[in-house]
This record gives sequence, C-alpha cells and structure tokens, in this order.
Amino acid sequence: MKFPKLTLTIILTLISTILPPSSPDPNDQSCLSNLFKTLQDPNHNLMNWTEPNFQNPCSGFLSNLAGATCNNGRIYKLSLPNFNLHGSISPFISNCTNLQSLDLSNNSLTGPIPTELQYLVNLAVLKLSSNHISGTIPPSIAMCVYLNVIDLHDNDLTGTIPAQVGSLVRLSVFDVSNNKLSGPIPVSLGNRTGNLPRFNVTSFWGNKDLYGYPLGPMKNKGLSVVAIVGIGLGSGLVSLMLSFTVVCVWLRVTDQKMAAEQEGKITQLMPEY
Ligand SMILES: *[C@@H]1O[C@H](CO)[C@@H](O)[C@H](O)[C@H]1NC(C)=O
Ligand SMILES: *[C@@H]1O[C@H](CO)[C@@H](O)[C@H](O)[C@H]1NC(C)=O
Ligand SMILES: *[C@@H]1O[C@H](CO)[C@@H](O)[C@H](O)[C@H]1NC(C)=O
Ligand SMILES: *[C@@H]1O[C@H](CO)[C@@H](O)[C@H](O)[C@H]1NC(C)=O
Ligand SMILES: *[C@@H]1O[C@H](CO)[C@@H](O)[C@H](O)[C@H]1NC(C)=O
Repeated sequence: MKFPKLTLTIILTLISTILPPSSPDPNDQSCLSNLFKTLQDPNHNLMNWTEPNFQNPCSGFLSNLAGATCNNGRIYKLSLPNFNLHGSISPFISNCTNLQSLDLSNNSLTGPIPTELQYLVNLAVLKLSSNHISGTIPPSIAMCVYLNVIDLHDNDLTGTIPAQVGSLVRLSVFDVSNNKLSGPIPVSLGNRTGNLPRFNVTSFWGNKDLYGYPLGPMKNKGLSVVAIVGIGLGSGLVSLMLSFTVVCVWLRVTDQKMAAEQEGKITQLMPEY
C-alpha cells in the first residue's frame, strides 16, 4: 500500500504550494496598515483598505485591497497610480518584504523617498513620478539589486544623483527629469559602458543645476559675458554722469565766486562819500 500513500503526499504537496498559506503574514499587515495611516485618500479609492482586510490581505489569489496583488500569500505588487493620494510614503513600506513592484505615480504625495526601501530586496519596479516628493535620492536604493525601473520624474527632489545607482546592472529605465537635482551626473549612469542600457538626455533634463553628459557641461557659475559688458557700460555711464555733475557744480561755484569778486571790485571802485 505504498503507492497511494506517495500519491497522497504528492497531492498534498501540490495543494500546499498552490494554495496560499492559511496564516496571514504579519509583515504585510504592518506594511499596509501603516502605509494607509500616512496616506490621505480624498477620492475614497482605498475604501476597502480597512482593518479586517489588513488582517488578511491575501486570503485568496487576489488581494482584498484595491491596488494590491498577491503571490504565494504575500503582497508582491502595489499599484496605486492616478488615485489622487495625498500624504507621504510610510517607512513601514519595507515590511512588504516580498514587494517586487511599487507604483504610486501621478498622485500628490509629499515627503521623502523612505531610505527603508533598501530592505525591499526583491524590488524591481519603483515608480514615484508626478508627485511632490522632496528630499534626496537615497544612495541605499542601490541595495535593491533587482531594480529594473526607477521612475522619479516630475517631483521636487534635490541634491545629487547618487553614483551607487549606476551600479544597478539590471536598470533599463531611469528617469529623474523635472526635479531640482544638482551637481554632476555620475558617469556610471550618464555614459554607461558595455551592454548596459544607456539613458539619454530625456532622463535628466528639467533639473536646473544638473550637468555632465548627456546634459551639457557645468554652467559658468561666474558672470556671463553679457553681464560683464553690461556692468562695464553701466559703471562707465554712471562715472561719466558723476564727473559731468562735478564739473557743472564746480563751474557754477567759480561763476558765483567770480560774480561776487566782481561785485566786490565794483564796490571797492565806488568812491566813498
Ligand atoms: C516593520 O518595519 C519597522 C520599521 O522599519 C520595523 O521596526 C519592524 O520590525 C518591521 N516589522 C513589523 C512586523 O512591524
Ligand atoms: C477592493 O477593491 C478592489 C478594487 O476596487 C476590488 O477589486 C476588490 O474586489 C475589493 N475587495 C473587497 C474585499 O471588497
Ligand atoms: C493623473 O491622475 C488624475 C486623477 O487624480 C487623472 O485625472 C489624470 O488623468 C492622471 N494623469 C495621467 C497623465 O495619467
Ligand atoms: C563615454 O565613454 C566612452 C567609452 O568609455 C568614452 O570614449 C567617451 O569619451 C565617454 N564620453 C563622455 C562624454 O564622457
Ligand atoms: C531617449 O530615450 C527614450 C526611451 O528611453 C526614447 O523614447 C527617446 O526617443 C530618446 N530620445 C532621444 C532624443 O534620443
């Protein structure tokens, strides 16, 4: 009777791998409930992001939460673009440890990119474009070695582009256009070598103080030729007017003096009676 037992074992193994585990994951729970706390949802797109659903976000193959997708009982994709979400991204996002794709693009999110994203070691897609996200791009983002897509365009990001990002060999989409980034574009990103996908000027433009290939060289921090000529002409004109005024005043004074002297002479010439 060995054969049926083996069949049963195989069937049980198959069922357990296909079906999600019965006990929900406390990390996903913490991730989603904390993320919901820092988000504001004026359009009520996240109506079913409620406490009972946080308890078991992956009870079936699909998630009970709008925008969340499950795989093997874990959240592996969060896709909440165009939801008019306000607020910020909770650092607890890092508790969704199986997350492979995070898309929060085209919302009104503020605050920084959490450095805790570095703990999402499976993250392949990061789309935070068209928000009001500020602060710097954390260099630790390069810890997510599977990153394929980093799309951060149209935000308020400042600081430099960390050179570490250039070490992400799987990176095929990189867009930081229309931010407030400054400094040199790391050569490891701007001029990639070998078979690595290259990024053109469209990935970088719209950042006033960013420079280096494929953008132009550093803008002259000193005065431009036009400004120097302008200042030269302006100061020349001012000194000309000043000396003209001085000469005028001097002429007037000497004129009056002469008139006065003349008058004196006349009175002196007058005979006294
Ligand atoms: C969730 O993330 C926080 C902050 O990164 C961490 O302190 C905590 O241990 C994580 N896990 C759970 C289950 O909350
Ligand atoms: C939650 O909302 C999403 C999208 O609106 C829907 O697909 C899903 O079935 C809802 N889940 C529950 C449990 O109501
Ligand atoms: C951005 O989201 C808003 C809703 O908040 C939507 O009306 C608009 O079409 C979206 N824009 C793009 C480019 O998808
Ligand atoms: C880009 O890299 C290539 C190969 O290393 C090099 O020949 C070229 O000068 C570089 N271009 C710029 C603008 O740095
Ligand atoms: C830059 O690259 C993007 C895709 O990565 C492409 O759509 C676009 O046409 C390119 N632009 C230029 C000027 O090469």
